[in-house]
Amino acid sequence: ADTNREVTDRLNDVCKLLQESVEYYDWVGFYFKNGDKEELKLRTYVGAPTDHEIIPFGKGICGQVAVSNENFVVPDVQAQDNYIACSINVKSEIVIPLFKNGENIGQIDIDSDTPDPFTEKDERFLEFVNQEVAKIL
Ligand code: SME
Repeated sequence: ADTNREVTDRLNDVCKLLQESVEYYDWVGFYFKNGDKEELKLRTYVGAPTDHEIIPFGKGICGQVAVSNENFVVPDVQAQDNYIACSINVKSEIVIPLFKNGENIGQIDIDSDTPDPFTEKDERFLEFVNQEVAKIL
């Protein structure tokens, strides 16, 4: 069996569930470090198609989280200088690093068409989601 494929399907189910459950979660995806390269690769997502399948470390919100190992909440994407725009509809973003055995191996990225919707509750919730996801990786 293609175990890797099964994991990606399950990650996509998580994306779907989150997008369906929270009204302001419009685009939900998982990026992971791409082998030994200094870049992130999009593994699976739900929402509008994006051109940003690969993101170099340090670039955009996602690339910054890859090196900071810290949550990044962006209430207003237009106010960010190091930001990679995916869609003109996106107003805000949250990126939470995903740790496996203490190592930052990827992240969940959520875009919202609503301005400033994310609170500490989203951070705690998505940290929990990532902890659960780490168990199947
Ligand atoms: N906005 C992200 C790029 C990824 S898209 O949101 C899917 C960033 O600035 O890193």
